[in-house]
Order: sequence, then structure tokens, then C-alpha cells
Amino acid sequence: MTRKYNFCAGPAALPESVLKTAREDMLNWHDRGLSFMEMSHRSSEVVGVAERAEQTLRQLLDIPADYAVLFLQGGATTQFSAVPLNLLHVKSGADYVNTGIWSNKAIAEGRRYGAVNVVASSQETNFSTIPPQQQWELSSDAAYLHYTPNETIGGVEFSWIPEAESPLVADMSSTILSRPVDVGAFGVIYAGAQKNIGPAGLTLVIVRRELLGKAHELCPAMLNWQTQADNDSMYNTPPTFSLYLAALVFDWLVEQGGLQAMASRNSRKAQKLYAAIDASDFYANPVELDSRSLMNVPFALVDATLDKPFLAESEAAGLLNLKGHRSVGGMRASLYNAVSEAAVDALIEFMRDFEKRYG
Ligand SMILES: Cc1ncc(COP(=O)(O)O)c(C=O)c1O
Repeated sequence: MTRKYNFCAGPAALPESVLKTAREDMLNWHDRGLSFMEMSHRSSEVVGVAERAEQTLRQLLDIPADYAVLFLQGGATTQFSAVPLNLLHVKSGADYVNTGIWSNKAIAEGRRYGAVNVVASSQETNFSTIPPQQQWELSSDAAYLHYTPNETIGGVEFSWIPEAESPLVADMSSTILSRPVDVGAFGVIYAGAQKNIGPAGLTLVIVRRELLGKAHELCPAMLNWQTQADNDSMYNTPPTFSLYLAALVFDWLVEQGGLQAMASRNSRKAQKLYAAIDASDFYANPVELDSRSLMNVPFALVDATLDKPFLAESEAAGLLNLKGHRSVGGMRASLYNAVSEAAVDALIEFMRDFEKRYG
């Protein structure tokens, strides 16, 4: 069986070597006579994998010691509520930047718990830009400043880290582990796993320890970061199989040369694809040059009546999941870590050939 090239925005491609290891381990993990999924989360084996996953992640992201690393559940969407429940009530409000669909969802959830000040929005440009920080109107006493470094649907990305007096909270679902990041600049980083971390079912939260212990009294125990930190993310039964696969992905990242190597590779992949789109009158990307995402590349066929044949033929050519999000239409190629340069080359070749035949 040949594996196809998968450009899905999430759940996304996983490294083939990780899947092979999982296949080998499936029935009999490390000669224990059972699969990893069948072990108690209190066993030394599962606790050992969880500890090693945390250590490798700390090494990859160079996470300072005064940050807790939590492996939780509920996806990034649950953190839209957990963030205000853990941080908002100690102040009168929180600042949010609106750069598209995911920040909007975080804003809507934040509003359920307190005053939300939208300090900047790129709605006027149909979310095709990142609003420059000089234009933001930050509150003087915000509990935190929330932003979305990469909007997975719109394909817009910050190439810089915002500055704020209040703790910076980032939904890094679609950029985490794609390049090095200065974790110390953030109060909280959270991310769903199903792009660059592993399979769905796991949510990563990295939180500066001084921000723990401030949760609202009605914050559910499962969403309380302090409770989770006190229980090594095992307040209840964690998603052990997702954690095991994430640990394998972290090992794979180390083997690849770490995040600096991933950054170079990811930048090459994205630049190639944008160059191909820009060189053609047949395809178009709506995002301002400086705000283009390295992970999610939306593009439209200028003649949208060709969308259907494009999708059918790309799929037949082994290029999967290129359909854009249902809210924006068109196409989108997600180029996460496990999407190889060969996959991007094959996509570009297909796009050129399609243009020749239909252009
Ligand atoms: C930037 C961003 N935030 C949040 C989410 C929602 O994540 P989840 O499905 O893990 O709740 C996604 C999902 O794609 C996303 O891309």
C-alpha cells in the first residue's frame, strides 16, 4: 500500500515512522504482552511515557523551569473557556485580538465569563492581514492579552510576538512545534494536538507557574490548571494512547534535528508553494504578504467553476484534503511538520499541470 500525501488541516498527517512504530507496538508494547492502550494510567509504564514526553517537549521548546506543562483533554476549544475561568475573574476584563474565525470563537467564549476588550481586529480586510501593534488599544489593567498566532482557516499568521504588560495567552494550535518559540514571552500557550503534536484527543497547555491558583471558584476541576498541575495531568484518566503517540512524535522531532531544522524545512515548503501561486494568474492567495501562514496556505482557483475537477483530480493523483474550510471555500494546503517537501513538490507539479490543461 502506498501512503498518499495528506494536506489536511487537522487531524493532520503524522510521520510515517511514528505510525510504523505504533503498528509494531500495537499488540505487545515493549514485550509487556499487552498494548499501551490497555495499561493503567497509574502504571510505571504509562507514567514513564508521560514523564518522558514532557521532558522531550521541554527540550524541544526550551521551556523554562518555572512553567508547568499540562497534557489535557477537550481540545483547544475547551481552553477558550479554561483561559477566562483560570485568569479572568482576578481583574475586571481581558484583552483579545481578533484575526479570524478561531480568535472569534475564543472571544465569544471569553465574553461568557467577563468583560472582553477587542483591542484590534482585521475584520475590515476580511481577515487577510494582522493588525499592526501600534494600532492596538490595550487596557491598562487586563487579566491577560489573548491572540491566535496562526489562524488555521484564514491562513494569516503573526510573524512577531505582541508586547503587553499583562500575561500573553496564545492559541498555538496550528503553529506549535513548527519552529522555535520564546516560551518565556508567554503567560500561557495552549494547543490542540491534532496538527503538529499527535492525534486528536490531547491538548497541550504550557503555563507560567505564577498564573496557577487563580481560578474562579466555579471553575470545573478538569479545567483548573492548578488541579491538573498538582495531579501531573492525571486528575482523571488521560488519553493514554494519544499521549504515547505524541511522545513518539516528540522523539521524531529530535531525530529531525529539532525545531530549528523544522523551521527551515517548513519555511522552504511554504515559500515554494506561495511562489507557485504568485507566479500564476490561475491561482490566488488572498493574504497580505507579511501575514501569510507557513502552516496553512489557502488558495483559490480564479475560476471557481474549476474547483470540483481540481479536487477530484488532485485526489486521484494522491493529494488528499485540499478542500478549503467550508466557511471560506476554495482550497487550502496545510503544511505541518509531517508533510514532506516531496508532498509539496507533488502538489506544485499537479497545480501546474492542471493549469496547463484548464487554463
Ligand atoms: C487555531 C485553532 N484554534 C482552535 C481550534 C479548535 O481546536 P479543537 O478542535 O482541538 O478544539 C483549531 C482547530 O483546528 C485551530 O486551528
